[in-house]
Amino acid sequence: MKNNNLYKYAEKKVGEILKTNELTVLQDLVNILYNTFDKYNWIGIYFVKDNYLLLGPWKGEKPTNHTKIPVGKGICGSAAESGKTELIKNVRNDIRYLACFINTKSEIVVPIKIKNKIIGEIDIDSDKENSFNNNDKKFLEKIAKNQQFIKNIVYYLNHQI
Ligand code: SME
Repeated sequence: MKNNNLYKYAEKKVGEILKTNELTVLQDLVNILYNTFDKYNWIGIYFVKDNYLLLGPWKGEKPTNHTKIPVGKGICGSAAESGKTELIKNVRNDIRYLACFINTKSEIVVPIKIKNKIIGEIDIDSDKENSFNNNDKKFLEKIAKNQQFIKNIVYYLNHQI
């Protein structure tokens, strides 16, 4: 599949998943992103609770040790503080970076918000340098703004962590 079509394909799949109202919606969504994009080597959804980021559904080869990150710490914590997407071309050049996997070269973190309140984020690591571009940013920010997605995030926050 051509690269641009991948975003369209994933968008359609994500839309279908979000309509299902299953308890596994967020895990299913993470799985679809992981299976669609080769360059998405690790994907996790973090939730903001009591000034910490807590890891929820994730997909990747290995688990991360960073299951609880203080807001303000690392690239994830920075995005949770600023509410802005972080797109890191080379993680080794960013002093904030909290290393999880030896292979990771680039990272994107997209905050999930209700109005101005940051309730979580989507974190994706890639084994390739400079993996993420404006297409990824737009695609992921659209998911983060999806009302059905936000509803699921709130549900998870209230029931599962
Ligand atoms: N690298 C992140 C920590 C989370 S792991 O990538 C899964 C950071 O710098 O905040």
